[in-house]
Amino acid sequence: MSNAWSIYVITLTTIMIVGCVWLLWYTSRPTDGSADETTGHVWDGDLREYNKPLPRWWLNLFYITIIFSIGYLIWYPGLGNFAGIGGWTSAKQHDEARDEAEARLAPIFARFETMPIEQIARDDDGLALGRSVFANNCATCHGSDARGAIGFPNLTSSRWQWGGDPETILTTILDGRHGIMPPFAAAIGDELAMTETAVYVQSLSGRRVSAEMAAAGKRRYDMICLACHGADGTGNPALGAPDLTDDDWVYGSSLEAIRYGILHGRQGQMPAHRDIIGPIRARLVAAWVWSLSNPPADGDNVAP
Ligand code: HEC
Ligand code: HEC
Repeated sequence: MSNAWSIYVITLTTIMIVGCVWLLWYTSRPTDGSADETTGHVWDGDLREYNKPLPRWWLNLFYITIIFSIGYLIWYPGLGNFAGIGGWTSAKQHDEARDEAEARLAPIFARFETMPIEQIARDDDGLALGRSVFANNCATCHGSDARGAIGFPNLTSSRWQWGGDPETILTTILDGRHGIMPPFAAAIGDELAMTETAVYVQSLSGRRVSAEMAAAGKRRYDMICLACHGADGTGNPALGAPDLTDDDWVYGSSLEAIRYGILHGRQGQMPAHRDIIGPIRARLVAAWVWSLSNPPADGDNVAP
């Protein structure tokens, strides 16, 4: 808050409190005694309205609330930029609540600290914890069912951009990933060449396309795309180059989507979660994600 606003708030608050005190004092004065303690209003010939001060108990309660509010404003932050002498801040309260929750969870998490991820994935408690970590941190991008969306990979399939063994998934979560496909419009040549290449890419996943166009596209694919996506189109996990032969698309399988990628490149970014969720939650969620494409065989679960 700027100083001007701070002064504004302090002034307004002070005027309010002083105003309340004045109002109480004013209305509780004994009446001047000049008349017979009535307002002068008369009904039905002889009903008179008294003008009595407010009851003492009510006034005292009011004074107590004012004293309380002054004490509150001295102890807690409330008066503009004045931080209060109690040292309370909402951030500190949040941290305390978080530390308390962490302390409560620590013994539960301790079991999973060194447990192999495959084993966590067969443990009902581990899976439940992993699922809740996912819901809180990953579902916004990958969807609550982990099936992804355009630009956000499906995590339930057994095809992986960066690799699907438990330790690789953990590395992806801890350190993040940045898939970079540069734009290739200039290298490919004209519009037709770009479409032919896209058509060939479609043919890789078994789609029926014009054989002529695909053959022309293959020549360009072999010149440019093969380096990362492989001769057979199955991709390269070291580069994060996706498998183009499956029916699982991050950006879509339409001609427009593939052409867009060739024209503008692709820059998928998975943020590093090491500092956000810490190592144990990362293991738990890695186990849950791994379990999606490696469901336990019957009787595999070590239910407690
Ligand atoms: C801000 C959005 C975002 C959040 C949050 C996010 N991810 Fe991702 N994630 C992505 C994107 C985008 C990619 C694809 C990266 C690429 O293109 O190389 C990705 C990739 C991945 C991959 C690699 C998939 C593969 O095929 O190799 C895994 C595993 C993954 N995320 C798991 C998680 C988990 C678990 C969480 C929660 C702890 C999470 N992600 C949170 C956006 C996100
Ligand atoms: C330098 C390595 C590299 C080259 C060369 C390359 N790509 Fe890629 N490609 C990638 C990477 C990495 C991604 C993933 C981008 C991301 O994670 O956002 C990708 C993504 C794609 C996708 C999206 C797949 C999906 O699941 O939606 C298509 C389609 C694609 N590339 C086609 C091509 C074509 C066609 C060429 C040749 C013109 C080509 N790539 C050349 C690295 C490359």
